[in-house]
Amino acid sequence: MMEEVRKRLKEAKKVVVLTGAGISQESGIPTFRGRDGLWKNYKPEELATPEAFRRNPQLVWEWYNWRREIIRKAEPNPAHLALVELEKRYPFFYLITQNVDGLHQRAGNKNVLELHGNIWRNFCFECGKEYRGEITPQVPRCECGGYIRPGVVWFGEPLPADVLRKAWEVSAQAEVFLVIGTSGVVQPAASLPLVAKEHGAWVVEINPQETALTPWVDASLRGTACQLLPEIVKGG
Ligand code: APR
Repeated sequence: MMEEVRKRLKEAKKVVVLTGAGISQESGIPTFRGRDGLWKNYKPEELATPEAFRRNPQLVWEWYNWRREIIRKAEPNPAHLALVELEKRYPFFYLITQNVDGLHQRAGNKNVLELHGNIWRNFCFECGKEYRGEITPQVPRCECGGYIRPGVVWFGEPLPADVLRKAWEVSAQAEVFLVIGTSGVVQPAASLPLVAKEHGAWVVEINPQETALTPWVDASLRGTACQLLPEIVKGG
């Protein structure tokens, strides 16, 4: 199967990738739904919704600070670096990510579409003004009096429309679509591989486990991102 993936990538001109928390797992960043996933120990509705923030901005801010600390110590891993190498080979390459850790950009990828925002960006919950101040332990306040929140998309919030439109567009043009490290249960991200498939792409999933997307993909490589991606990209 690895040979088939390499062959398809060699023949392709347009490659699109969708990543989830699994690609950052080997950098030491917890996933959401795995064995030791964040949603096993925390309730998303208490931390990752506008209502949760309204109810207790300090608690939510602290939880994101805790996640930022983990991410700050994390380094891009060989899977992230393999995608940097892959991008160089195609005039048409897009990396769509559900991750907010910024590791794809730190690794060196250029065409990154962040569907769920970025944990390093912050803005005022009331007036929307970007916040460039210090990330303090105490939730900061905006001049308007509003609380500062992390620039990530919470459950129940719309995704950035321009990013989603672009992600939809490029998925429909992909010849090969790689789905890496996502459980495929959160919409609309999880629809992108199907959009690609509907438009004729060959879709391959890279994941140690079966996912909601497994029945739909053309190929599934069972293994971790760090085990498989350098192998796939090796050999030019
Ligand atoms: N390599 C590849 N895949 C891995 C690895 C690894 N080393 N470790 C775990 N995985 C896989 C798991 O098998 C699982 O299928 O990564 C996937 C992680 O799934 P989730 O934890 O659900 O993360 P994700 O799919 O990115 O979640 C989507 O849900 O909570 C929201 O906004 C959040 O962006 C997130 C979205």
